[in-house]
Amino acid sequence: MSDINNIKIGIIGCGHLGQAIAESLINHEFRKENILISYKNNPSTYKKISQLGLTSCISENKKIFNEADVIFIAIKPQDIMSLKEMTFSKNLLIVSCAAGLTIEILKSIFKTNIFRIMLSGPDTIASEKGVAALYPYNKLICSILNKMNLRTFEISREIDMNIFTTGVCLPAALLYEKDKVGIKEAVDEIGLDCSIFLDLYDWAKKVVPSFNTETKKTQYISKMITKGGITEAIIDSLKSGEKFITALRKGMARGNDISQEIKQYLLNSK
Ligand SMILES: NC(=O)c1ccc[n+]([C@@H]2O[C@H](COP(=O)([O-])OP(=O)(O)OC[C@H]3O[C@@H](n4cnc5c(N)ncnc54)[C@H](OP(=O)(O)O)[C@@H]3O)[C@@H](O)[C@H]2O)c1
Repeated sequence: MSDINNIKIGIIGCGHLGQAIAESLINHEFRKENILISYKNNPSTYKKISQLGLTSCISENKKIFNEADVIFIAIKPQDIMSLKEMTFSKNLLIVSCAAGLTIEILKSIFKTNIFRIMLSGPDTIASEKGVAALYPYNKLICSILNKMNLRTFEISREIDMNIFTTGVCLPAALLYEKDKVGIKEAVDEIGLDCSIFLDLYDWAKKVVPSFNTETKKTQYISKMITKGGITEAIIDSLKSGEKFITALRKGMARGNDISQEIKQYLLNSK
């Protein structure tokens, strides 16, 4: 793997995030013939993949696990068990993008070393304003993220991945909240637990777009929402009129709930 642009990269799950990763890799000189992507056969996903000119990259999960050097898993946490039976070489680097899935859970599924990343929403990745957290550190994964022009944060405690995940939801949350004092108090409170959150707030204020129509705003937010995920929990809370701090805490709690749900599933299936 002397030349990073020649490594084979698999993307399992080609929804909002998977598409953004694939596009960004290609825009940053990774070769299209070295990118393998998969999805679950939803025709509307195929249409989007086709619009992006990526149909030649579509592959079976089995083949991706056999051929790729690095795999980004960009499926919903609730779908992770569908990958339980995959076999692969010990040199494969598996990188989970799924919110809430801990290293402990991922290791018990894949029986190998696993890395977690958390990325900001698709629009920020496309506009070269994205941020990423990586846990634990890995040089090659960090180089790929940097090549994608993502500002990468070092995370030393896994628990902070949940806080980071809530932080990358801030651009969507800020579009819904008008109470500037409430926002500042909430950010300062969470910043006491993890100071990276303060950096993410500064980043979010810079990247949050302004929209002249409600439809455009909804489209932007919808790409950041994974069904049953953290952004959804935050936006639902804000829509119901709850305080900003409550919404952010609900986002973090959703991350923990996802983790507990999958843990329970694993225990029941033993
Ligand atoms: N959206 C974001 O801004 C964002 C940011 C950071 C992290 N994330 C994380 O990224 C993951 C994906 O989120 P998303 O918003 O992109 O969700 P999404 O739009 O629902 O995309 C999920 C994709 O996974 C595919 N899929 C499901 N099971 C599969 C399998 N067994 N093999 C291959 N593909 C499979 C689905 O295929 P079909 O389309 O055919 O159903 C869909 O394309 C989540 O875990 C989320 O926590 C998302």
